[in-house]
Amino acid sequence: MKLWNKGFEPDKEIERFTVGQDRELDLRLAKYDVEGSMAHIRMLESIGLLTKEELDILLPALQDIADEIERGEFRIEEGVEDVHSQVEFLLTSRLGDVGKKIHSGRSRNDQVLVDLKLFFRDELKKISAGVEQLFTRLIELSEKHKDKLMPGYTHLQVAMPSSFGLWFGAYAEALTDDMQMLIAAYNIANQNPLGSAAGYGSSFPLDREMTTELLHFERPHYNVVAAQMSRGKTERAVANAIATIASTLGHLAMDVCMWMCNNFSFVSFPDELTTGSSIMPHKKNPDVFEIMRGKCNRLQSIPNEIALLTGNLPLGYNRDLQLMKDILFPASTELIDCLNMATYMLGEIRVKDNILDDPRYDYIFTVEDVNRLVLEGMPFRDAYKKVGMEVQNGTYKPHRGVHHTHLGSIGNPANDHIAAKMHSLQQQLK
Ligand code: ARG
Repeated sequence: MKLWNKGFEPDKEIERFTVGQDRELDLRLAKYDVEGSMAHIRMLESIGLLTKEELDILLPALQDIADEIERGEFRIEEGVEDVHSQVEFLLTSRLGDVGKKIHSGRSRNDQVLVDLKLFFRDELKKISAGVEQLFTRLIELSEKHKDKLMPGYTHLQVAMPSSFGLWFGAYAEALTDDMQMLIAAYNIANQNPLGSAAGYGSSFPLDREMTTELLHFERPHYNVVAAQMSRGKTERAVANAIATIASTLGHLAMDVCMWMCNNFSFVSFPDELTTGSSIMPHKKNPDVFEIMRGKCNRLQSIPNEIALLTGNLPLGYNRDLQLMKDILFPASTELIDCLNMATYMLGEIRVKDNILDDPRYDYIFTVEDVNRLVLEGMPFRDAYKKVGMEVQNGTYKPHRGVHHTHLGSIGNPANDHIAAKMHSLQQQLK
């Protein structure tokens, strides 16, 4: 049975093809669909399109559906296209004619838009909570291992002294930049499209300010055509936020894989967090971080997928838009899983001491030695030449002390500033 039934049943194959994954994916929209409907009918009552008595029948019936969703009992039945249809069918089958009244001044186009915006708002908050947990862990590790030195590389060649404090703290601060993208996506999602109907508004005097307030949106998406255009634009912003966090996490995962490599052995994990080989008895593999790296690399393709899917669509609603759910819903879940796994694993990370005592890292101290000579009064270029010649002749002997004190350096990683930055960003979503 279709909302748009006009006396004929559509071909089963056509139905299968067009409904696609909606019956499953829309379950994640169900609670927001009911929330949107509740706001919509309150508004309809306020402008005289429903009586107070009708509202008093409809609201508890919608609340019952909300409770069924909460208990996990809600299903989208065979033959029902999507969540919007299922909720309306439940209402009409339970209440009769009054159930048929809720769709005045609304289309499934603005209904799915409002569901998605409410869903993305919550989803972005969940991602942000995952980011915050990982951030906290990274800052803790940075503080704990502040004084443990490690090699810094450029061109993947040994370059200058770095520290575990800097390494962990760097990823914490990178996450603050990612949060800016996440907040931008949140702000774009946080605008009310309800009332745009099929994409061109309605001849009913809809009170869009009222539904904006009831659904706690920051403001309406004013222009009804812009509201409809926001399907696609919002998804792009959310996809970009997911992708940028994934790029930070994928990079971290790569570092861990490399530092776990036996040629480095800078970090290790308890045996039960590593994986084995079916043939080589000695292996303790970093599969977790490899899967994380792979997933995060793949997640970076979703802005592209959304761009290709929506790039040349004509103005107004087009059914292609439905397919964005197939991309974004699993992506968001996967990112949250990766964030939680990273936090879990890093809780057990072990860090090697005294790495730089190994003579293979002797040259890492050349810049320190040049700087020491400069502080003693030698011009920089002369000091550079002197140390450079010692390296060239094989007579270079490092002074192993490292004295970095400026803001953001080994001796002063500025974790308190970084934490304050993250705190103020997180506050914007609370
Ligand atoms: N499943 C549809 C979607 O996600 C719901 C909106 C249907 N609207 C329509 N005009 N067919 O886009």
